[in-house]
Amino acid sequence: MPEVIKIEGGHLLEGEVNISGAKNATVALIPAAVLANGPVTIVGIPQIADVDSLSEILRILNVDVQEIDVDHLVIDPTNMKNVTLDQDIVTKLRASYYFMGALLGKYGYVKIQMPGGCYLGPRPIDLHLKGFEALGATVSYDKGCYTIEAKKLIGNKIFLDIASVGATINIMMAAVYAEGRTTIENAAKEPEIIDVATLLNKMGAKIRGAGTNVITIDGAKSLSGCFHEIIPDRIEAGTFIIIAAAMAKKMVINNIIPQHLDALLSKLQEMGVKMKVDVDKVTIEKSDHIVGVDITTKPYPGFATDLQQPITALLTQADGESRIDETIYIERFKHCLELQRMGAEIELLNGSAIVKGPTPLDGTKVYATDLRCGAAMIVAGLMAEGITEIHNIYHIDRGYSEIDDKLRALGANIWRETVEND
Ligand code: EPU
Repeated sequence: MPEVIKIEGGHLLEGEVNISGAKNATVALIPAAVLANGPVTIVGIPQIADVDSLSEILRILNVDVQEIDVDHLVIDPTNMKNVTLDQDIVTKLRASYYFMGALLGKYGYVKIQMPGGCYLGPRPIDLHLKGFEALGATVSYDKGCYTIEAKKLIGNKIFLDIASVGATINIMMAAVYAEGRTTIENAAKEPEIIDVATLLNKMGAKIRGAGTNVITIDGAKSLSGCFHEIIPDRIEAGTFIIIAAAMAKKMVINNIIPQHLDALLSKLQEMGVKMKVDVDKVTIEKSDHIVGVDITTKPYPGFATDLQQPITALLTQADGESRIDETIYIERFKHCLELQRMGAEIELLNGSAIVKGPTPLDGTKVYATDLRCGAAMIVAGLMAEGITEIHNIYHIDRGYSEIDDKLRALGANIWRETVEND
């Protein structure tokens, strides 16, 4: 039977929370590990359903996966078999597309179903495929499956029309064994890309420039196993920082890299949120009055689209009008419909939302239509009067590590219940 999350709003939060390893790095690091010829140990693994799905895909590929501890995986691809990935599990998450780059890079051949993931409007993968083709691969599509193959991958210069996170990582993985030099221009600069390049370089790859918009990859002959610790999740950190801005008496968010959160922290400062930023933590105290701001989502280091949804919930309690322009996924506004059900005053335009605040929120039945919509519902539920009942929480469990336990430890009244139907 499906589960719902229930939140009784209005309780002030106090205490410390530790941020887990980055989901969007983890979901690329796990497929990247198969490029090695020996065991890869990754620590800081978040407890999220996407990790379980990727581990299941690894087992289908006959890769040995050992969970040594809750946050500690050893991935050994020594006896791996490059079988067709057409199982349902592949469509459960977006990141299964990283097996395209990883298997193409290692074997010169991959057959895999179309990936799934959150619906945020159209999410094409044309740039990934163009990148593979530029390395000498051919791509065909039949009955929901892509076949990508190359007799030999040869390094090339690839210009990405859009600085795509997924395409940058996928091309990097496909190119690690390619002959000669691959250059990715207009590469995405997200911290998760640096983390994946760091893992690959520890394995013996020769990648330079990750974190800038030009990445070069010189083909390596062989990659070996290594040890890697995942960077903290800047989106989980941002979500807890927004929660603190909404409901904290005093909250400390630990295990963060503040530079990764510059765009969010400066917006919150502009809103009047009281904070103290240290080397690896931020402390937030109750603010009596917050004001509306305008936000435009941008690729890193701009304001992250993944935090647009949770901050919208906070903006419903800010004084005045806030305008949100979503430039990455122009349809990523389903959370606004859910917030409206709770009493928010939001006008939706094409690719933008105008939030008028403050408006009291009332707890009611809402849907986590996607992962970060789920985060927005949690922020709203903590602030609302009465009980908020969040459905479709499998989206939340795909990407937030034990979010209800972490919130309960801070004093929130949040629990799960099973229901007959979602
Ligand atoms: N795009 C194309 N063609 C492509 C690839 C992307 O047109 O071949 C477009 C997309 O439609 C979008 C833009 O380029 O408009 C940027 O997309 P990108 O490829 O950067 O996104 P992604 O790699 O699919 C990752 C995260 C998302 C996050 C975006 C943007 C993972 C698994 N997912 O997606 O995270 O929103 O980058 O930062 O890393 C989430 O965590 O909730 C989430 C959706």
